[in-house]
Amino acid sequence: MKLVFFSLTGQTRRFVSKTEFSSMEILPDNPFHEITEPFILVVPTYDEDVTEVVDDFVDYKQNQKFLIGIAGSGNLNFGPLFVYTAKNLAKKYGVPLLYSFEFSGTIEDVKKFKKVVSEIDVKRPDRC
Ligand SMILES: Cc1cc2nc3c(=O)[nH]c(=O)nc-3n(C[C@H](O)[C@H](O)[C@H](O)COP(=O)(O)O)c2cc1C
Repeated sequence: MKLVFFSLTGQTRRFVSKTEFSSMEILPDNPFHEITEPFILVVPTYDEDVTEVVDDFVDYKQNQKFLIGIAGSGNLNFGPLFVYTAKNLAKKYGVPLLYSFEFSGTIEDVKKFKKVVSEIDVKRPDRC
């Protein structure tokens, strides 16, 4: 499974690298890249003006068609606002919020996330 991620301060990037999945980073200066295989978005939580590049990526060409689900990085100190970016994107694009974690995730988070992804692969062998 391919992970497409956005990261401002490196926490999400570190999480993605720990999973060892193939990945692509959304870069704020040019988010307009076409993807032609199923992917999971992994996003940190910030104001919309910071994360709108993620929407730009998903909305580009046919990219949305390949979006399977979202994972979110956040900080539990934000209480009800924990991982709201990932939650909003899941709602907007009609895909599940697959996993949420704090900062770059623990070893346990990486394990659990990989299990969730492997279950998708089993359910959708034609697409993954
Ligand atoms: C200005 C700012 C606002 C943030 N707002 C939220 C928030 O509303 N909810 C949340 O869960 N985390 C929030 N966070 C935490 C980040 O999303 C979290 O640290 C994440 O791991 C950062 O990922 P990155 O290093 O890949 O950018 C905020 C962090 C900063 C610096």
